[in-house]
Amino acid sequence: MALTPTPEDKFTFGLWTLGWPANDPFGPATRPALDTVEAVEGLAERGAYGVTLHDDDLFAFGSTDEERRHEIDRLKKATEETGLKVPMVTTNLFSHPVFKDGGFTSNDREVRRFALRKVLRNIDLAAELGAETFVMWGGREGAEYDVAKDVRGALERYREAVNLLGQYVTDKGYNIRFAIEPKPNEPRGDILLPTIGHALGFIATLERPELVGLNPETGHEQMAGLNFTAGIAQALDAGKLFHIDLNGQRGIKYDQDLVFGHGDLQNAFSLVDLLENGGPNGGQAYTGPRHFDYKPSRTEDINGVWASVEANMRMYLLLKERAASFRADPEVQEALAAARVPEIKTPTLGEGESYDDLLADRSAYEDFDPEAYFGGKGFNFVRLNQLALEHLLGARG
Ligand code: GCO
Ligand code: MN
Ligand code: MN
Repeated sequence: MALTPTPEDKFTFGLWTLGWPANDPFGPATRPALDTVEAVEGLAERGAYGVTLHDDDLFAFGSTDEERRHEIDRLKKATEETGLKVPMVTTNLFSHPVFKDGGFTSNDREVRRFALRKVLRNIDLAAELGAETFVMWGGREGAEYDVAKDVRGALERYREAVNLLGQYVTDKGYNIRFAIEPKPNEPRGDILLPTIGHALGFIATLERPELVGLNPETGHEQMAGLNFTAGIAQALDAGKLFHIDLNGQRGIKYDQDLVFGHGDLQNAFSLVDLLENGGPNGGQAYTGPRHFDYKPSRTEDINGVWASVEANMRMYLLLKERAASFRADPEVQEALAAARVPEIKTPTLGEGESYDDLLADRSAYEDFDPEAYFGGKGFNFVRLNQLALEHLLGARG
């Protein structure tokens, strides 16, 4: 299997990822900002499919119309020349001081109206750039103090905002869907819609739920101690995996945004296996962009930045290769059967079977022997996981 990325792999990167100058709360930048055109050309040379952006990544907050247009035109020229796509656009509602209490859910109504205007303008830009996904990461939508935020009121305002945006793209005839990105905390002490599950519950309350899905990020679920692969499986089950942010996180701590696979490698392996082989008949379960939302570590200079861009794509391709080798191994197939993994697809009731039929089935209860599960009927999961790890380590296949 090829380990050289090509546009068919659909790898995309945010301008703010490789362009991060590495300023953090404890110190200033350690490298210069990366120019948009240089970023686009470098990504295209390395086989990426596309680039994504916040409005403020492209033109500084408060830019004049001319400055804004100049930067948009530079980006468009660079993408036309390189063939790079812009499949996703998002709005920065978190950096400027005006958003210190959030955008859609700031307690200050004037800020909420300003935030909506900023997003509406950016949706027009997304349409102009041909983006089909509009991400909403509400990093500042939250609070540090329970008494400072009426969470039910804030959710009403969030809903009001997303409903308005859904109305807007519908009226404009834009081919754009929204993807909410959950995160439990950072920068706020607690962020609204903190996990995939919370966001799924919220989407069901919207006027146009079909227009709104998820953009889950590896590290964000893991910051909450959750299993990212399991969360993605549930997003797929709900038909809501509209986009995905891949990166690395090691345990419950600050948002590390490491290179994909440089965090919980086992979880990265099972994720790639799910995305690439977890479709209903095998095959891909998700065909959208594989978007890396990571930060090249603060220790790195520009060479390290590009090395980390390459590392993300190479890690994904290596894991895809390892997952294919796992699936192709006859011993794995036999171990999966021994662990009864495929049996979960068999409905618990027979076709047309009612609860009366179940109640009448003596084998299901009266004649069933639950005691056989004491000291017997092991599930053989450990052997299966060992085989998975041996494939992951390259010890087999
Ligand atoms: C994070 C987030 C952000 C968002 C991005 C889109 O690490 O907290 O990933 O990077 O994805 O800003 O709005
Ligand atoms: Mn993150
Ligand atoms: Mn993200």
